[in-house]
Amino acid sequence: MKLSVSGRAATAVTVSAVMLLTGGSIAGAAPGSAPTAAAAPDIPVAGVKAHLAQLQSIATANNGNRAHGSAGYKASIDYVKAKLDAAGFTTAVQQFTSSGRTGYNLVADWPGGDTGRVVMVGSHLDSVSAGPGINDNGSGSAAILETALAVSRTGYHPARHLRFAWWGAEELGMVGSRYYVNNLSPSDRSKISGYLNFDMIGSPNPGYFVYDDDPAIEKTFQNYFTGLGVATEPETEGDGRSDHAPFKNAGVPVGGLFSGADYIKTAAQATKWGGTSGQAFDRCYHRSCDTASNINDTALNRNSDAIAYAVWELAS
Ligand code: TRP
Ligand code: ZN
Repeated sequence: MKLSVSGRAATAVTVSAVMLLTGGSIAGAAPGSAPTAAAAPDIPVAGVKAHLAQLQSIATANNGNRAHGSAGYKASIDYVKAKLDAAGFTTAVQQFTSSGRTGYNLVADWPGGDTGRVVMVGSHLDSVSAGPGINDNGSGSAAILETALAVSRTGYHPARHLRFAWWGAEELGMVGSRYYVNNLSPSDRSKISGYLNFDMIGSPNPGYFVYDDDPAIEKTFQNYFTGLGVATEPETEGDGRSDHAPFKNAGVPVGGLFSGADYIKTAAQATKWGGTSGQAFDRCYHRSCDTASNINDTALNRNSDAIAYAVWELAS
């Protein structure tokens, strides 16, 4: 959903600003030599929410969760994979074992682009066993799925190669993403120019946190929110808490978005973002109430559009 005309206008201004910030490891093209980037599409939040409704149904039909090793997890993988296959992605399911159970990562490559410069986007698809995991992390999973589908719908063929991933067993300690990174050859690892992570982006009492890691990636997200007139804060607490950690540890530039988990929203944060101070960003974090109603649609919409903006900017 498009939020404002001024957001769009600001987008056009920030493109050149990002291009001038070369030197950050993901910003590759020299100023002046880069072709004008195609504008990112507006990601339909209704599409993102439709995926969340499906993930909720999958949990409801499978003992109320989508945890590692469960039927609900495998059904989640099958749902996402079918959408990507129908849209023309090249998909691969990577199996691993954790706690005696089979886990799955889903990796989807968009054909084309320079495979020596890969922009990778990922979210964990598993829930905890306590509940359906719709904000954590149906939200990131659904938003990157809808972004991937938008790449297909718009026929986007960026200069860099695009790869999307849905990780298993994050809730057991980033098991799936670490398995993926550990099984990359040094040469394949060096071809990943950036990894963008989305874990919890529709929190019901949201904050707008941008991972404080690779400066060029961070700046790209900040530019998008500046265009919307939405303040952000740097996310530093998450360094070891989600699937960007294995990539960062392997030397890949990382970034991402986060709308808050069990930490409490301060009065200052409620002043700039609205919502309720003195309450957690997500009171249902890791609980059975993390259902389809545990989502703030405005946060989900803004973050989904920010993902597309960053993908289009960084892959162009
Ligand atoms: N990874 C955590 C989970 O899935 C969520 C989380 C907590 C998080 N703090 C974070 C994610 C900071 C990113 C950044 O349960
Ligand atoms: Zn999570």
